[in-house]
Formats: sequence, C-alpha cells, structure tokens
Amino acid sequence: MKLLVTGGAGFIGSNFLHRIVPRHPDLQFLALDALTYAGNLENISALDTLPHYDFVRCDLSDAEQTRAVFHEFRPDVVLHLAAESHVDRSIQDPGPCLQSNVLGTFQVLEACRALHAQGHPIRLVHVSTDEVFGSLEPEAPGATESSPYKPRNPYAASKAAADHLARAWMHTYGLPVIVTHCSNNYGPRQFPEKLIPFMLLRAMGVETLPLYGDGLNRRDWLYVDDHCDGLWAAITHGQPGSTYLFSAEDERPNLEVVHQLCQTLEQLCGYPPGVLQARITFIPDRPGHDKRYALHSHPTRQALHWSPSTPFAQGLKQTVQWYLDHPQWLDHVESGAYRHWVSTHYPTPHSLLPPRVGGGS
Ligand code: NAD
Ligand code: TYD
Repeated sequence: MKLLVTGGAGFIGSNFLHRIVPRHPDLQFLALDALTYAGNLENISALDTLPHYDFVRCDLSDAEQTRAVFHEFRPDVVLHLAAESHVDRSIQDPGPCLQSNVLGTFQVLEACRALHAQGHPIRLVHVSTDEVFGSLEPEAPGATESSPYKPRNPYAASKAAADHLARAWMHTYGLPVIVTHCSNNYGPRQFPEKLIPFMLLRAMGVETLPLYGDGLNRRDWLYVDDHCDGLWAAITHGQPGSTYLFSAEDERPNLEVVHQLCQTLEQLCGYPPGVLQARITFIPDRPGHDKRYALHSHPTRQALHWSPSTPFAQGLKQTVQWYLDHPQWLDHVESGAYRHWVSTHYPTPHSLLPPRVGGGS
C-alpha cells in the first residue's frame, strides 16, 4: 500500500507518521505539507532516514502542484489532514481557511478523481471535526454520524464545506471516501496556539493564563495517539461511504482542563501547589464561542474495534513532559510570527514570552 498523508508536518499528521511509519516497513509513505506557520519539518525530521518514507512540499490549493504529486506517487490511500486548523485565526482572517480547507480539499478530490478515472484503486480518508455539528445544549446527546451540520465559525464552516465536497465526489464520481470526525486532540508537537500547549507555554513562563468568557465551555479531549490509532483502523478496516467518530467521551470545562494542566506542571517541576492556578484570568469571550462539542463514538468503536486507551491525566502528563523535554522545539516554534500572533490576539501586558522553566536537552 502507498499512503499519502497531507498535513504531515502538522500536529496530528506528524504524530500519525511517528506512530505508523516505523511499524510498516512493507508500505510506502509520502508526507505532503505546504509548511505554513503550523507545519514544522522538525516534527518529522527523525523519519528522514527511513527508506519507505519521503516528504514533499506542496500547497494543495495549487492544482498543478497537487496533481503532479498525486500522479507521480500514485497513492492507494490518501489521509487528508492538511488544513488551517485554528478557530481564532479563522475569525481574525477567514481567507486562508477557505483557501486551504475548501479549495485545498477540492484539489485533493480532483487529483483523486483523475487517478480513480484511470482505474487506479484510490481511497480517501478525509479528516473532519466535531465542530461542524455546532454547539450542543448542556444535556444534549453527543452528535452522531447523521446529525445535521450547524457550523458557527469560519473554520467550522470551511470544514463543513470540505466534508460536503468529499461526500459529493463519492456520490457523483464513485470515489471511495471515508469521512472521520474527532474531538479536540492534545499531545506532543501541537502548535502552541491551541488551548493546552498555549496555556502550558505561558505557565512555563511567568504569564497569565487567559480563559475566554467564564471558562465553562466544554470540550472532549482525545489523546493524539488514540486518534491516530483510530485513523489507522479507518484506513485498514473502514468501509468506503462510512463516517467514523473518534472521541474520548470525557468532556471537561476549559477551567478544569487548565486547573489540571497547572497541577501537572506543578508536580513535574516541584512547584508549590496552586502557584500556577493563581495566574488564571478571564478575558472577553471569543466571538460566537461554541459552548459545547460532544461526539457519540460507540458505533465507531464497535465498527472499527477501536477505543481510546489514554486517560486524560496520563495523556496530560505525557504531553507536559514532552514540552519540558523539547525546549529547542519550543524556541524554534516561538518565531517572530508566533510572537506577533500572541501580541495581536492577547493584547499587552500579557504578550511577552519570557524564559521558560523546564529541563531537557
Ligand atoms: P495543524 O494546524 O497542526 O496542521 C495542519 C497542517 O496542514 C500544517 O502542517 C500545515 O502546514 C498544513 N497545511 C495547511 N494548509 C495547507 C495547504 N494548503 N496545503 C498543504 N498543507 C497545508 O492541524 P492538526 O491539529 O494537525 O489538524 C489536522 C486535521 O485534523 C485538520 O484537518 C483539522 O481540521 C482536523 N482536526 C483537528 C483537531 C485538533 O484538535 N487538532 C480536532 C478536530 C479535527
Ligand atoms: P482551541 O484549542 O482553540 O480549540 P477549539 O476552539 O477548536 O475547541 O480552544 C479550546 C477551548 O479553549 C475553546 O473553548 C476556547 C478555549 N480557549 C481559551 O479559553 N483561551 C485561549 O487562549 C484559547 C486558545 C482557547
């Protein structure tokens, strides 16, 4: 099998490659990425020496580049992860989201369709999000495969559009497509704009920990390795035309997540209990902030013989330890562009990134 992983230099893509590529020397892997601000070659450089793995830089919204990569590699399976993935950035500037998530997915579908039309047995696993189902009421059951779409921010709307395109290409052109939705992932190598690594970096420095609104918005947190195992199950055992939902079914309010994160860092660094929690502040809410996401993942668990195996406390500890152990990764990620984002989105005096605590090489 030849597997093309789009967005391979991003958070989930790089964790997927680290987990799956070394275990399957009999397969061929190509990671594709445009290397946007969120794509980081350092995430996957350790794989460079493997003979059954390669990387190509390609912007999926460029039709010619995309078609050329697909025609040269001729993948049997495409795991489509590439996207602009941050809600706050999509609110500040929706353009890149539409470009990568909608037009990028369109070019992936067209490149797949061209190979499919030649009789090449190609399948697409298109990775979507719980956000397309919109904000759930506090006691409502989790979204299912047949829940209506109700996206409420530019990122979610762009992902919803991409999902509709993927399913349309299946029905119209017979392209074998699987769509997956997942809840909030966390783990190593996540760009520090998302809640957990963002708060962690600030806690490692001396900054405030700014929660939106009352901090009571709820998310389900799925450890990235568990998600990657689910994606692998979808690739190897999924039925074309199916939709799979990956979640931990373990929702928490943001305030609780940040409390637990502070406790974990305090324990690992030997700080007095409560010293980091005292830095939690509440800032004006994100516009249109979705109150709650949840997915009913039991049908997927049965169909794919998959279930998450990492309790939140354990996943959080592994995540914090990884960031403590990789100060160089953090130094490189905290480029001028990152500082610019933080200073514009979280206005002064909370925008300086001082030296961090933590060991590692
Ligand atoms: P990420 O932002 O860490 O990585 C995305 C990668 O896509 C980056 O490496 C970026 O360079 C690349 N990319 C962006 N535009 C591109 C383009 N036009 N052409 C080629 N590459 C491009 O995101 P992630 O967290 O790894 O998310 C991966 C996928 O999972 C996304 O589709 C996202 O919508 C979905 N998802 C993520 C989460 C989560 O919690 N992280 C939750 C639900 C769904
Ligand atoms: P985020 O990681 O951006 O993921 P998503 O919006 O896709 O769920 O945010 C997770 C939750 O944390 C969300 O409810 C917004 C909240 N949040 C804050 O309160 N403060 C922050 O600085 C960030 C980045 C997120």
